[in-house]
This record gives sequence, structure tokens and C-alpha cells, in this order.
Amino acid sequence: MSATVRASWFRVLPEALHGARVLDIGCGQGRTCRYLASKGAALTGVDASGELLRIAQARAAVAEPEIRYLQGDATQLAWWDGQPFDGAVVEMSLMDFDDLDGAVRVLATVVRRDGWAAVSLFHPCFPGSEGPASWPPEHGYHWAGRWAAEGADGIRGSVGANHRSVVTYLSSFLIHGWRLDAVVEPPFGNVPTILLLRFVRT
Ligand SMILES: C[S@@+](CC[C@H](N)C(=O)[O-])C[C@H]1O[C@@H](n2cnc3c(N)ncnc32)[C@H](O)[C@@H]1O
Repeated sequence: MSATVRASWFRVLPEALHGARVLDIGCGQGRTCRYLASKGAALTGVDASGELLRIAQARAAVAEPEIRYLQGDATQLAWWDGQPFDGAVVEMSLMDFDDLDGAVRVLATVVRRDGWAAVSLFHPCFPGSEGPASWPPEHGYHWAGRWAAEGADGIRGSVGANHRSVVTYLSSFLIHGWRLDAVVEPPFGNVPTILLLRFVRT
């Protein structure tokens, strides 16, 4: 995420974070965990990759924030200790989860009523130009599935990611007990490449 997108990302995060119990699901190397912990939140970072969690742990040890890292599957509850969270962040990770409904259901279970979820996505409507389109060249927006973008940098080029419509994402959250609270398209470039959403648990 670029610095400009990150500035917009902070707009879908609540201001009052001190003392909040926050989950970062698909936390990767823990950058957002460290940011939220620096605001006084107690963080749990969950990721499937032990390698990325080791990097996160090493970096957290330097800054000494209050962060607990767990290896686990975002679409299953095996890692959860039953203590509800006040909120959750899902930063650029939902596209990586093959079971969208499973992940959204887990979030709805572990976040308390009136708690929040802040989500950042590669914009599902992005048609390409500064980077590949959200969908594969041989298909269109209404196609859904996992694909890898040939020649693309980062995760989209290596392991690939899922393309789904905006309606698919929003419907999953609405069906699983979330209310849409904020939508942000970071204002730069000709078309937005990132979509930011905030939901409240009903
Ligand atoms: C694009 S990275 C984003 C990492 C981090 N949130 C960030 O913004 O830097 C997606 C992350 O999702 C993790 N991931 C993919 N599938 C997962 C799953 N089923 N359960 C937990 N983590 C998963 C990957 O290991 C990776 O760290």
C-alpha cells in the first residue's frame, strides 16, 4: 500500500483505539498491527504464513508494542480463544482468502456487537492501466475466481488472488450480520485501484 493509500486507509479506522481489542486478520508482516498498537490498541495478528509471522514477531520485538501473533486460517475459528474483539482490520487480504463467506462469518463471530471491521481491497472494478485489471484479460468484471496476473509484481503475479464483484463482497458482509458504515475510494489516479470499507456488527 502506498503512503497516499495508507492515509485514506486511516479514514476507515476508528479514532478511539486506546484500550481496544483489535484483530488483524491476514496480518502478514504486521505493519498495521504495529501502527494500531502504537495508538494504544491491544492487537492479535492472525496469518496462515509462519514465515511472515516470524518477520512480524521480530519487528514487534524491536518496538515492544502489545501484539500477539497467531498462526491460523482466517476462515476457521481454531485460533480463537473465545474473547470477543472490539474491531478487526482486513488489509489487502480478503482477495487472498478463497472462502470469502467463511472469513466474513468468522469476523462476525469474533467481533462483538456494535464492533467494527475495516477492509481494504484491490478495487474489484479496476479495469487496468496502472497495473493489471482486477479480472483476467480473457474474462470480464462479472467473472469470479482466483487467477495470477502474468508479469505483475508481488502477490498478484506470484500466487494470484481472487476476483469478485463489489456486490459479492458487500452481500457477504450484509448476509453475515454487518452494516456498511463507510466507503472510500482513495482520490488519486484516473480510476481508483483500492476500495476501502468500514462495517459495523449488528
Ligand atoms: C496481500 S497479504 C496482506 C498482508 C497485510 N495485511 C498487509 O497489508 O501487509 C495477504 C495475507 O493473507 C494471508 N493469508 C492468505 N490466506 C489466508 C488464510 N486462509 N488465513 C490466514 N491468512 C491468510 C497471507 O499469508 C498474507 O500474509
